[in-house]
Amino acid sequence: MSLLKRIFKYILPYKGRLAAGIFSMLIHAFLTVYFVRVFQNLIETIISDISVGEEGIRHLTWIAALMITVYFFKGVTYYGQRYLVSYVSQKAVRDIRNDLYSHLQNLSLSFYSKNKTGEIISRVTNDVGKLQSAIVDGAVSIIYQFFTFVGAIAYLFYLNVRLTLILVIILPAITLVLNTFNKKIRRVSRQVQIKIADISDVLQETLSAVRVVKSFGREDYEYDRFSIENDANFRAKVKNAQYGAVLTPTVEFIAAIAFTAILWYGGYEVMQGRMKPSELIAFFTLLLTITTPLRSLSKLSSTIQQALAAAERIFETIDIENIIPEKSKGEIIHLDEVIGEVEFEDVYFSYDRDEVILSDINLKALPGEVIALVGASGAGKTTMVDLIPRFYDPDQGRLKLDGQDLRELDLVELRSIIGIVPQETILFSGTLRDNIAYGDLSASDEEIEQAAQAANAHQFIREFPDGYQTVVGERGVGLSGGQRQRISIARAILKNPRILILDEATSALDAESESLVQEALEHLMKNRTTFVIAHRLSTIKHADEIIVMERGRIVERGTHQELITSKGVYANLYQGQFLDE
Ligand SMILES: Nc1ncnc2c1ncn2[C@@H]1O[C@H](COP(=O)(O)OP(=O)(O)OP(=O)(O)O)[C@@H](O)[C@H]1O
Ligand SMILES: [Mg+2]
Repeated sequence: MSLLKRIFKYILPYKGRLAAGIFSMLIHAFLTVYFVRVFQNLIETIISDISVGEEGIRHLTWIAALMITVYFFKGVTYYGQRYLVSYVSQKAVRDIRNDLYSHLQNLSLSFYSKNKTGEIISRVTNDVGKLQSAIVDGAVSIIYQFFTFVGAIAYLFYLNVRLTLILVIILPAITLVLNTFNKKIRRVSRQVQIKIADISDVLQETLSAVRVVKSFGREDYEYDRFSIENDANFRAKVKNAQYGAVLTPTVEFIAAIAFTAILWYGGYEVMQGRMKPSELIAFFTLLLTITTPLRSLSKLSSTIQQALAAAERIFETIDIENIIPEKSKGEIIHLDEVIGEVEFEDVYFSYDRDEVILSDINLKALPGEVIALVGASGAGKTTMVDLIPRFYDPDQGRLKLDGQDLRELDLVELRSIIGIVPQETILFSGTLRDNIAYGDLSASDEEIEQAAQAANAHQFIREFPDGYQTVVGERGVGLSGGQRQRISIARAILKNPRILILDEATSALDAESESLVQEALEHLMKNRTTFVIAHRLSTIKHADEIIVMERGRIVERGTHQELITSKGVYANLYQGQFLDE
């Protein structure tokens, strides 16, 4: 019930049009029933006035004209209700989709590490689509059918009470059968949705990693994996269809029995002289008129059950409160001028409570300092810098910017002063210019070119025939790893951030480009607080402080010189790499 209320909340803003639509429906339903009344008159005229001359013909013409008029207005109101109601429902669905998407954007990263992208996409596309068709074809016609039904039943009673009573007794039997099936269909429908999500998961995963699939010759393996999911989907869908297939004939059969019973008793009433033949004909015409609503009501209920299952999932997602908590407007501290001092104070962090990823992190980066993080893969370096833009909040301890706990600050403001070159370069589909401009949407062409120059990307961009207007695919197909990385660096440079985070920012570059980009970065690091993560230790020699991480803990710290002298982990690592080179 609260589910329906929630859907209704989205419809409420358009109540004016909705009311007009429902009014059209009401008239349309009335005309449908009224037409039978006119039809009854026609029959009556034909039977009783058959021998009368001019008078009879005039009457006949008059009724025919009335019939056409009724049909004309039925058409007008049909248009009215269809247009108005689908306008309202499409708007409502649009609002739901927007809400869902905006909520998804606001969810913290931990939501995305726990949920599969395919399932999320399926919610925004499949589930919302289901809801849409159910509201348009479902809810709308339900109201219309309901009006017609009530009107028809009222007129049936007027025609013959006994006959209608028989009808009314049989109707609940149909409803009972419907309800039993509905429950089953709803359950199966939910399973189908999950299966569809699984398919898009495999698709998403393998198509985006098609290079890996091919390089390992795993096409057959992936095909098998896909076809297993596809089979499961097939079975779930067939089951769903099966229930639908049983439902319709069952309802029709019950209706046929009822119909025959009424036909028999109606005939009896006429034979007894308690009913006019024209009335019996009208009765049957009306009965036929309501079997259509009845039948579509039975089909509709399965559509609606599906939609409710979809709505349930949509609202479930909207209700997930996995957002980074923010202080209320009044309590937020705005930093007028950011100096750029970043401090980690007794920080502990875990992705899920069982496994501690970072422990006892204490670190202070003074404004303009370069802090380098080194350590084995999985040591927690990326996790550590992810805490700075509050992608995650620490479990214990706190992070401070210019002495203020990050949780006291405005999240948008905080992120606006941080530039990140992430470990995994993501380019959006669009031009190279758009991709760089992502760092500052208002940047001029000149500024973009400067940023590209600083990132050592200008050269190769110029060599493309379309230059900055070159279109790249959703994952930057057509660019080498190093080129993509340089676009990513240019994007961060363009943002002109106070705090710069470079996570393996030059790892995909050759030695020569690296030293060029390194130069640019060093230039860029001036006056900015910078966190650099690097495997190649030669690139961080000049850092103000080098932090050596092991299993989420800081095990060594100091300048390059200090660490070399102390002959610890770092000195060993450096020696090893130095010898390699
Ligand atoms: N989204 C996540 N959900 C759960 N665990 C995660 C997540 N991301 C990372 N981890 C775990 O946290 C630990 C630290 O990962 P992190 O990415 O911080 O390492 P790293 O030092 O950056 O490694 P690398 O040098 O390979 O990039 C790893 O054990 C990893 O398995
Ligand atoms: Mg990392």
